[in-house]
Amino acid sequence: MSRWAKYIDSDPFKIIGETADKLQLETFVIGGFVRDKILNRGEAKDIDFVCKGSGIELAQAVAKALPGKPKVQVFKNFGTAMIKHNELELEFVGARKESYRANSRKPLVEDGSLEDDQKRRDFTINALAISLNEKNWGELIDPFGGLEDLENKILRTPLNPDQTYFDDPLRMMRAVRFASQLNFSIEEESFKALSRNAERLKIISKERISDELNKIILSKIPSKGFKILFNTQLLHQFFPQMVALHGVETRNGKSHKDNFYHTLEVLDNISKETDNLWLRWAAILHDIAKPPTKKFEPGIGWTFHGHEFLGSKMTTKIFRQLKLPMNEKMKYVQKLVKLHLRPIALVKEEVTDSAIRRLLFEAGDNIGDLMTLCNADITSKNEMRKKRYRDNFKKVQEKIKSVEERDHVKNFQPPVDGELIMKTFRIKPGREIGILKNAIKEAILEGEIPNEFEPAYQYMIEKAKDLNLSPVNTNKSN
Ligand code: CTP
Repeated sequence: MSRWAKYIDSDPFKIIGETADKLQLETFVIGGFVRDKILNRGEAKDIDFVCKGSGIELAQAVAKALPGKPKVQVFKNFGTAMIKHNELELEFVGARKESYRANSRKPLVEDGSLEDDQKRRDFTINALAISLNEKNWGELIDPFGGLEDLENKILRTPLNPDQTYFDDPLRMMRAVRFASQLNFSIEEESFKALSRNAERLKIISKERISDELNKIILSKIPSKGFKILFNTQLLHQFFPQMVALHGVETRNGKSHKDNFYHTLEVLDNISKETDNLWLRWAAILHDIAKPPTKKFEPGIGWTFHGHEFLGSKMTTKIFRQLKLPMNEKMKYVQKLVKLHLRPIALVKEEVTDSAIRRLLFEAGDNIGDLMTLCNADITSKNEMRKKRYRDNFKKVQEKIKSVEERDHVKNFQPPVDGELIMKTFRIKPGREIGILKNAIKEAILEGEIPNEFEPAYQYMIEKAKDLNLSPVNTNKSN
């Protein structure tokens, strides 16, 4: 048995092979499935098959032979068909030659040989095919040295890279994504071609770019991908705000840090702690407003006043620009960007409980993630200083914990609600209710009263006097 047969030693490969033999179609499994099997990487979700002939016909025959006779979804325009089988998506296509037009990703297609088909794929490591026909079951078809490239961890295009990227510019993002995700290097000619073709990325939809970008962000060391994106100027095409973080300015002998590399360090740091894509996004965006808020103030040096507030506003714009979800995920990132300096500030001063209560109130359930972000933000080159920051920071963390345990303000629910206020003073909905509720909240956060019903009730009665209100109904149950 061939060395590769073990990868296809299961249903549905056997059924597909038998069906292909009946139809006399040379058939192969190709692409990411083969790559990931050889790399011993995760379980496949979609598997691509290519045959010499009609992929749609093959899919229809395979569906009849599979248990449960699943439906075939046909994409006539693309000449492809898909079958959902158990947890898998099986994709079928006829081997083809393709040529692309300059203004579109949609190719002109004609039938071709397996090698034509492999050649038009993005990287040699994605062009590996394993035969499914009986006569050469399990044979690896590798005309472009994909196996060697896999072993040497190299991304190389089967054709001249300018051609491959010109044909489909999304492949430039895929190159960077695979380099980051698999920790591969991009072969030199291919790397240069990225810079030469970077502007072509403009014809790709933002959704597809962001899909790849998110995969880069979720890789183990995401800075690897971002450095390539920056060096090839791909990043400049879709995320200029991040590019603007790059560079150091010096005035009167004072320099600020390079916020691009700082951001990448924070991103790598946080990636050791979490796989939460949106928390990683918060790391990317935490200093995004430093360039537009930067000032040199004589006697003080470089300042970035309000960058956390502007950064939180820019988050909305960047999410919209990159077609990222404009929902609670975006709000979560915004909140973390807005609050990212607050825990650090608690390190420096004599911390009051009320400052901590305010932070807990504003961060709510995201307090843990905010602390993770702040911890990742400690990137001093000076190890001693870093240690001192971390130690101080731990103290703040402990203090936050003990304040929360005592005061429960993280998920603050007012101990006295609007209903009771209206009933007590027999008033209709109006501004007085808001004023009283806010006064109680402030008193609790400031530590004037504990976060409990009875003191809050008495406080409300006192405060109501300022509004010329006196209690009419003293039944405290609501
Ligand atoms: N492909 C390509 N150019 C693209 C996208 C895909 O040449 N822009 C080819 C590659 O041969 C790839 C195959 O089509 O292996 C299947 O594509 P897809 O399922 O999108 O990606 P995978 O390589 O399977 O990888 P992943 O699942 O990690 O995205």
